[in-house]
Amino acid sequence: MNQPLSMGIRGTGRYVPAGLLTNRDLESYFETSDEWITTRTGVKERRMVSAAENTLTMAIRAARDALEDAGLSASELDLIICSTVTPAYPLPSTANMLADALGAPQVPGFDVAAACAGFVYAVCLAATQVHAGAQSNVLVVGAETMTRLADREDRASYILFGDGAGAAVLSTATRPDQQMLYFNMGADGSQAKLIWVPAGGSAEPASTKTVNERLHVMKMKGREVYKFAVTRMQEEIRTALQATGLTIDDVTLVVPHQSNLRIIESARDRLGIPAEKVFVNIERLGNTSSASVAIALDEAREAKRIGPGNVVLITAIGAGLVWSTAMIRL
Ligand SMILES: CC(C)(COP(=O)(O)OP(=O)(O)OC[C@H]1O[C@@H](n2cnc3c(N)ncnc32)[C@H](O)[C@@H]1OP(=O)(O)O)[C@@H](O)C(=O)NCCC(=O)NCCS
Repeated sequence: MNQPLSMGIRGTGRYVPAGLLTNRDLESYFETSDEWITTRTGVKERRMVSAAENTLTMAIRAARDALEDAGLSASELDLIICSTVTPAYPLPSTANMLADALGAPQVPGFDVAAACAGFVYAVCLAATQVHAGAQSNVLVVGAETMTRLADREDRASYILFGDGAGAAVLSTATRPDQQMLYFNMGADGSQAKLIWVPAGGSAEPASTKTVNERLHVMKMKGREVYKFAVTRMQEEIRTALQATGLTIDDVTLVVPHQSNLRIIESARDRLGIPAEKVFVNIERLGNTSSASVAIALDEAREAKRIGPGNVVLITAIGAGLVWSTAMIRL
């Protein structure tokens, strides 16, 4: 069990594109139905970028929103960590281009590629930096354009995903009880190919062949990922509670990665967590990969479902396979 880390969440923000992609719209892409998608995943609609938007443009909007909430200007940031597996450009990092767009190109930054768990990974990293006194204000962003990475011809995976961005500013604690009470980062690299993109990297650079064979879009073994995630999510929540000696009554809200409503509900049922203690927005936004927990956290704060002094548990599982969980007293 790690020691509690002194840190606070000073502000959060989000941006989701205006473009709606409903289950009915998907019925014109491939053979599927609103009923199938709703019962298997809980997703009714998701947001999709316009031609002019991408991960960077969404990250800028979410970051500005979080900075405004925090009452900080970009030049007061000490570090930017951007989580994305769908960067606007392969090089350089989204974090550097984001810093420039925010008017503070000198702020150091880098990207984290830990798929759907990336935002929680980045929050854990940022918390250790703030706790150590190395940085006072760290901007953590999760931004993804999944509608451009998922395979539009694969009905078993495309239905899950949507686009969006969320952000949080982690800062030096202003109260002694403002802490990350627990964090965990886990991985099983032996399962890397359960969700992966075979081409477009240095192993198989993009070519006419890779594009024709659709090797540059995401491949997912959904059933196997489901089985893994359903058990892992329960274990992550149970372990966090055991490690801190807290019970679910001490936790104000669980904010899980919005991967599939059945995965979330199965964890909730098995652990006996009341429905009102689990944040769900998957019906509106689908799975936005690493933006998912970031957006949900901001929505939960805005809806006053969490506030100062409350304990929030964030947890996510993704391609890698990777998983990460943090319990924070706000
Ligand atoms: C993707 C997922 C919804 C698929 O549900 P599933 O119950 O596992 O479905 P399967 O892939 O086993 O397919 C079952 C059947 O439905 C069909 N099917 C798949 N997608 C369909 C769709 N969109 N519409 C209608 N039928 C569909 C399949 O062809 C298959 O038909 P068959 O039995 O005749 O072969 C589910 O596996 C899942 O959510 N997995 C986790 C994925 C995830 O969370 N990934 C991100 C991790 S961060």
